[in-house]
Amino acid sequence: MDRDMLSLGTLALASPLLLSPIARYCDLAFRLLVRPLGGLGLACTDLVNPRGLLRATPKSMELVSTDPRDRPLSIQLYGTEPGPMTDAAQWCQEHGADVIDLNMGCPAAKITRHAGGAALLCDPRLAVELARRVVGAVRVPVTVKMRLGWDDDSIVAPELAAAMEDAGVAGVTVHGRTAAQRFGGQVRLTEIARVVARVRRIPVIGNGDVRSPADARTMIERTGCRGVMIGRAALRDPWIFRDTYALLTTGHVPPPPSITDRLALVIRHFENLRALRGDRIACVIFRQRASWYLGSLPDRPGLRQQIRLITSPQQFYHLIETHWGTTATSTR
Ligand SMILES: Cc1cc2nc3c(=O)[nH]c(=O)nc-3n(C[C@H](O)[C@H](O)[C@H](O)COP(=O)(O)O)c2cc1C
Repeated sequence: MDRDMLSLGTLALASPLLLSPIARYCDLAFRLLVRPLGGLGLACTDLVNPRGLLRATPKSMELVSTDPRDRPLSIQLYGTEPGPMTDAAQWCQEHGADVIDLNMGCPAAKITRHAGGAALLCDPRLAVELARRVVGAVRVPVTVKMRLGWDDDSIVAPELAAAMEDAGVAGVTVHGRTAAQRFGGQVRLTEIARVVARVRRIPVIGNGDVRSPADARTMIERTGCRGVMIGRAALRDPWIFRDTYALLTTGHVPPPPSITDRLALVIRHFENLRALRGDRIACVIFRQRASWYLGSLPDRPGLRQQIRLITSPQQFYHLIETHWGTTATSTR
């Protein structure tokens, strides 16, 4: 693999590593946290409803909010109606999207009961037609994120990926599970390899259960995929892209970040949230989020519980100072 040259159509990425869309987690505050750490080639918004976007609902506007530092960016759309999809894709292209991604993998009932997300795997003809219409409506590359199929009896990813390539899609991401598996069982690298073997030119990006740089290397070696998308592991360890990129390009993983660096990252994330969403929402989000980060810091008895109760930024900084003796001053 030429690791420096993952391209989606005309867009050459600096790294073959992508941040997954994870609804409610991989928001702008998180993307701006991860990008400067290095190693990330492309980040994606959470899934966006085209009709909501075209009505400019507050939720949709929040989901697509971006910033010049948040590049390159993929905006992910879901749905089944070509009209709103193409209009929304054009809107995204005019508002910061370097890539439009189409969700064909979400197994959540609220999406699939309207035939969207992974339900499109059951209607490949409609899935391909949607992609063809969106490709025809925008200048930026269009990608598709899919699962293997609806269930074990309907594995469609290899054929669907090949049909997507014919429809002009610039790359496909394959989460190596069926929709029926949701997040259980194993990711099937052999099935991702079958997709890689089936397409002609477009890159396949492997996804699922990459928890370490070594996992990403294994996925590339076992499937031949050109890129790797990482989701849940990045939420706890935002350095995973830096570390994985180093492993792929030099064969070595850098030393882990120091406690000071880790604490600075926690504070930066909190401050990103304050700046973008306001103090109240930053506190609500951090009551849960902070405890994930604490897992990689030496234990401080009671801290998790105390952070779950914060109602103001001052309480948060005070806790950090009390437990870590550091000057956790706000930069705002
Ligand atoms: C809470 C949650 C929300 C998710 N939201 C999205 C989403 O909005 N769009 C999407 O394509 N995938 C979504 N996914 C799936 C992830 O992008 C990814 O495919 C999956 O988590 C497997 O990768 P991982 O093991 O690296 O996390 C979500 C997953 C989780 C756990």
